Amino acid sequence: MSTRPADHGANAPTEPHPSDATPRIPSDEELAQMSTDDLVALGNRIDDIEVVSGRERFPVPGTRAEKRAVRQVAGWFILATISGLLFLVAFIWWPWEYRSATEEGAWVYALYTPIIGVTFGFAVFAVGMGVIAYSKKLLPEDLTVQQRHDGRSSEVDRRTAAARLIQTGQQSGIARRKLIVRSVGAAGGVLGLGVLVAAFGGLVKNPWKEGPDSALLKTEWFSPDGERVYLRKNSGIVDDVVLVRAGDLEPGSMETVFPFKESQRSHPEELAETLRSSDSPVMLINLRPNVPVIKRAGQEDFNYGTLFAYSKICSHMGCPTSLYEDQTMRILCPCHQSQFQANEFAKPVFGPAARPLAQLPIAADDQGYLYARSDFIEPVGPAFWERNS
Ligand code: FES
Repeated sequence: MSTRPADHGANAPTEPHPSDATPRIPSDEELAQMSTDDLVALGNRIDDIEVVSGRERFPVPGTRAEKRAVRQVAGWFILATISGLLFLVAFIWWPWEYRSATEEGAWVYALYTPIIGVTFGFAVFAVGMGVIAYSKKLLPEDLTVQQRHDGRSSEVDRRTAAARLIQTGQQSGIARRKLIVRSVGAAGGVLGLGVLVAAFGGLVKNPWKEGPDSALLKTEWFSPDGERVYLRKNSGIVDDVVLVRAGDLEPGSMETVFPFKESQRSHPEELAETLRSSDSPVMLINLRPNVPVIKRAGQEDFNYGTLFAYSKICSHMGCPTSLYEDQTMRILCPCHQSQFQANEFAKPVFGPAARPLAQLPIAADDQGYLYARSDFIEPVGPAFWERNS
């Protein structure tokens, strides 16, 4: 028989519950009359819980030891608050737009992801440490033993379990430890705000503010002043501009090409911007001669001979459709295996994509260099709410 420790109300040790003596279950009216301590004691008896020992961490409130423990716990929540605020500031104001390694400011951009990762990660870590520190330093020390039972919990079980939680909250002294309450509130508020900003921050802008010239409707193939936009290869060196001639591609081959304007030639930054723009890449496919071709209504003259130019951006979810299979003349998107028929206006023939790849109208100048006759006549890539094609 264990020695009974000092009495702590309903948390005091109870006699082991003999398996053949089921406690009387109070009526609903009696339950409603019972105090929290009574309900906890009843729950202990019903659930075969034996409180072996129970001890307040700080029986005398307000001691220096307790204040030190409170400061240590609050310190973690304050660190979480500071880290959460740093995350918010970095997420909103840190330069996030892509810079290639050779551009000025590339190192600042390169720090964006690590900084938001470290600040958010540390904020969550600090909250976890604060909770652990609180339970280890301030919650009462109980040692209880319970026999587990199968089956669904009854009403009385649920009421007594709720009472146990309430009592634990009361005994934790959280109400009188204002520093912890405030630091938890600040950390929770900042982290909650951080989650909201991360989830919805990107939506707080108007993608249509430029009207018909909005980013979702125009690509780098658009030329506002009418300057001719040529098709160029990308050798990996931004200012090594190699234009594409009609005779450069073998029958049955494919080449990825990008837009280029002569006025960009001496502006490496503009060239880099055009190359990295997500709606720039186009697959230039040279079909074999005499293969059957079906053209899309209204786009009958978009090809140049056997050359067809399709946006590389998949109409399903925007992955690059990089693979071309000459024998079947199919373009494959590796993300979800959509396939597009290159000799039938790149219409989808397999997989989840539901609309053809956008086709770029092309022609050749008098020296044989290929150029875009205009921008795409429909948005490239996946569907969006306002899309009407
Ligand atoms: S993004 Fe291409 S199939 Fe899904």
